[in-house]
Amino acid sequence: MSLRLGINIDHVATLRNARGGALPDPLRAALLAQEAGADGITAHLREDRRHIRDDDIARLMETIDIPLNFEMAATDEMRAIALEHRPHAACIVPEKREERTTEGGLDAVGGHNALRPLVGALEDAGIRVSLFIEPDKRQLDAALALGAPVVELHTGAYCDAAMAFDETARRAHLARIEEAASHGAAIGLEVHAGHGLSFDTVADIARLPQIMELNIGHFLIGEAVFTGLGAAIAEMRRRMVAARGESAAA
Ligand code: PXP
Repeated sequence: MSLRLGINIDHVATLRNARGGALPDPLRAALLAQEAGADGITAHLREDRRHIRDDDIARLMETIDIPLNFEMAATDEMRAIALEHRPHAACIVPEKREERTTEGGLDAVGGHNALRPLVGALEDAGIRVSLFIEPDKRQLDAALALGAPVVELHTGAYCDAAMAFDETARRAHLARIEEAASHGAAIGLEVHAGHGLSFDTVADIARLPQIMELNIGHFLIGEAVFTGLGAAIAEMRRRMVAARGESAAA
């Protein structure tokens, strides 16, 4: 199965927001990503609106032809916004005000009672729900029990270990992701992955045959400063296809 690539445009919005104006426009980035062959656009409407803003969701929904994956916290405010816009998919993420980025996975085990009605309401509205979780069997089982058809495995710890050249930790995190991906597929979940992925870290994740989609943002937006967004996306795709091909041939 081919591996989809979703482009997270949050950090184009972060750059725009640094000056409080309209530029650079995350919608333009979404259209460029679409043109460069992205399979979807991902955007996180945070409580503090540090990335995209409410009107960006409407503009994205009106303009792009590829699916929008709306990242959202499990709050009443975000539930209402998701139900109003009905994006193709909603990825439920944990959100802490003081964090720089989404630091860990959602607790699908402990949060069952609060998450159950939210997952149900989004699914009833035709929105494909995914839960952003740690690569942990208990979290996958809990996601299934919640009725979410998709999980996204948090690759942040793996990427941090790889970037720190901590080979022992990198291997341990990769083994967890590998086990989680096989378990997820075995119990019938669609498995995605993302967070912190770069040219150097993507291959080991893209190689896992159970993973259907990667969502990548910060690295690609940074790389785009040097090479342009289209070229950065093309190179990421090239590495994903090469890694996937190697595993299929093995
Ligand atoms: N997937 C999810 C659920 C995320 O929250 C994020 C970050 O917003 C990403 C993927 C993309 O991570 P990065 O920007 O580090 O590539």
